[in-house]
Amino acid sequence: MTAADDLRFDPWDPAFTADPYPAYAELRERGRVIRYERTDQWLVPHHADVSALLRDRRLGRTYRHRFTHEDFGRTAPPAEHEPFHTLNDHGMLDLEPPDHTRIRRLVSKAFTPRTVERLKPYVERLAGELVDELVAAGGGDLLRDVAEPLPVAVIAEMLGIPASERAPLRPWSADICGMYELNPSEETARRAVRASVEFSAYLRELIAARREEPGDDLISGLIAAHDEGDRLTEQEMISTAVLLLNAGHEATVNATVNGWWALFRNPGQLAALRADHALVPSAVEELMRYDTPLQLFERWVLDEIEIDGTVIPRGAEIAMLFGSANHDPAVFTDPGRLDLTRAENPHISFSAGIHYCIGAPLARMELAASMRALLEKAPTLRLAAEPARTPNFVIRGLRGLDVEIA
Ligand code: HEM
Repeated sequence: MTAADDLRFDPWDPAFTADPYPAYAELRERGRVIRYERTDQWLVPHHADVSALLRDRRLGRTYRHRFTHEDFGRTAPPAEHEPFHTLNDHGMLDLEPPDHTRIRRLVSKAFTPRTVERLKPYVERLAGELVDELVAAGGGDLLRDVAEPLPVAVIAEMLGIPASERAPLRPWSADICGMYELNPSEETARRAVRASVEFSAYLRELIAARREEPGDDLISGLIAAHDEGDRLTEQEMISTAVLLLNAGHEATVNATVNGWWALFRNPGQLAALRADHALVPSAVEELMRYDTPLQLFERWVLDEIEIDGTVIPRGAEIAMLFGSANHDPAVFTDPGRLDLTRAENPHISFSAGIHYCIGAPLARMELAASMRALLEKAPTLRLAAEPARTPNFVIRGLRGLDVEIA
């Protein structure tokens, strides 16, 4: 067994979050599973292991379907955090079968490839309008002006949230997502609880309104699925809507700005993309690999496993390092190089196994739409100032990305 505490892996160090990839290389050298005392976790940095563990049913995103907190030697979260946990624990991302299977099936029904395909003209038109405004202004903040409004509007539109009621969605989401960082502070928890209470109350009202007067939207679809077979509780509907809203934009925003920043730092690749827009699909995949928007996902060990001779007991927690897996030289030739023409690109940015991202086709469509609009309408777009990072590691991104039209 090896430990990571003497290595440069330090999610609270801005120097590490600015560029975690050299530290990941050290971790991969150190071993296949590495003990990290600071978070009481086992780090897994290799692509083959992350990929296998995501599909391994001896692990779970929760243990509550089989064990109590006491069984796992954990304490229940404090009562005042309850609104956050109620919201979180009823979303499919934090459930395991059979509840996960039931909810995912119902949501997939309202989230078919056809529904997503039908959105394409809307997504492309919106991306074009947002870029037109950026160009008319001579530049701006790519995050605030394009990367964020696009996915927020798309998922809000899908769920049937009126445009006039969308302003609080992003702050609610940011406050809730603070809890997905490692060892969140009490202040983070307080903000997440407040956002959970307000967001849930808002959705409860919206669900009541759609029950009265159904529309052609996902919430009405979820209500119908619920009422037909009594298979989705109101809490599950609320948790599903919040999960879709949060998951539906947080990573897409970061993938967009991380991606463009990577392009600005690799002018040769950007020039190749500008010369050949047919590269957009492989560019989207490569940018998601090169600077992975969601860096780490956790799993509980439900039944003892062994990795490379190290026994990891029931009750332990595993942290899979997606950014490291996406830079594993055993899978990717010259992984530190941005190569928009990379043909073999089995990155795991959308996960794998039963929790594989349900929104992956939509995310890909949005990323391609904003990229095409920026290439076509702003061919001289360039960086106006060095961007600052957010302090987050798990949901890794920038505070903004100032750009100008040359
Ligand atoms: C670049 C954008 C995106 C990235 C990188 C991303 C990544 C991920 C990852 C890694 C997971 C699984 C986490 C795990 O295995 O523990 C996941 C799950 C999920 N994602 Fe995404 N996602 C993106 C966009 C979206 C969008 C646009 C939506 C919805 C509109 C969405 C909805 C979901 C949902 C509902 C789950 C839970 C699935 C389940 O537990 O079965 N995501 N996503």
